[in-house]
Amino acid sequence: MSPPPKRPAPTSPTGPPVWTIPDWPGQAKEQAVQAMFTAIARFYDLNNSLLSFGLHHRWKRRAAACVPVTAAGRALDLGAGTADLALLMENRMGPRGHVLAADLNLAMLREGRRKVARRGLANRISCWRANAERLGFREASFDAVATGFCIRNVGDLMRAFAEIHRVLKPGGRFVCLEFSRPVRPWLLRLYDWYSFSLLPKIGTWVARDRTGVYRYLPASIRAFPDQEALKDLLLKAGFQRAEYENLSGGIVAIHVAIK
Ligand SMILES: C[S@@+](CC[C@H](N)C(=O)[O-])C[C@H]1O[C@@H](n2cnc3c(N)ncnc32)[C@H](O)[C@@H]1O
Repeated sequence: MSPPPKRPAPTSPTGPPVWTIPDWPGQAKEQAVQAMFTAIARFYDLNNSLLSFGLHHRWKRRAAACVPVTAAGRALDLGAGTADLALLMENRMGPRGHVLAADLNLAMLREGRRKVARRGLANRISCWRANAERLGFREASFDAVATGFCIRNVGDLMRAFAEIHRVLKPGGRFVCLEFSRPVRPWLLRLYDWYSFSLLPKIGTWVARDRTGVYRYLPASIRAFPDQEALKDLLLKAGFQRAEYENLSGGIVAIHVAIK
């Protein structure tokens, strides 16, 4: 299944490499971020499990549970990377449903496509290359859009929210799983020590990363809006309602916004 393209068409990693990156705001950030994900793609899942002490599985299961069960539903996992959320959402879209796993990064998507194929779900989940800031899908295409640790990385956050809002059906749900602010001061201090001192060393060693992604990670988390600020931005982007739930003391938060 592929939704009819309206804007520059997203391309399947199996198809010809026809996507070219246009001149958009935040392009420099985007290129740097993409270079990092390309460098770590093969180690991404292993690193995620090690660096989050396996917690990311629990966080993602909780986020997927916020996606409404929909008969013949269509869901988009945006910034899908290695497709964990797509795999968790798949059975919520009913037997005739479909999930699109979309990401800007081909190396990450290839890992995702392998996982989807290994589970025998290639007919239920298709992997597409697409940019969150310029989605090539028609308005009101999806019952749900979910993002897992993607939205912090996009160049222009409000543009991505506008696009997510546009492609959702009225009443559709946006589920945003993202790093946030620990609510307790002691946890914040511990978390900062772990993020800024330990994580870059472990990440670089495990992923053999030379691009600085594990220094970028804590810096990007600190620069990202906290729970309340993100909720306000979602309302500003046009969502009717927005709520959030803290997980692991606010290390991550799930925002759910309704169009
Ligand atoms: C930290 S990974 C998260 C992967 C996966 N969702 C997960 O939860 O494990 C962030 C992903 O967002 C993707 N990404 C960043 N900016 C993007 C954009 N503008 N459009 C689409 N994907 C983007 C990256 O390529 C990367 O695969």
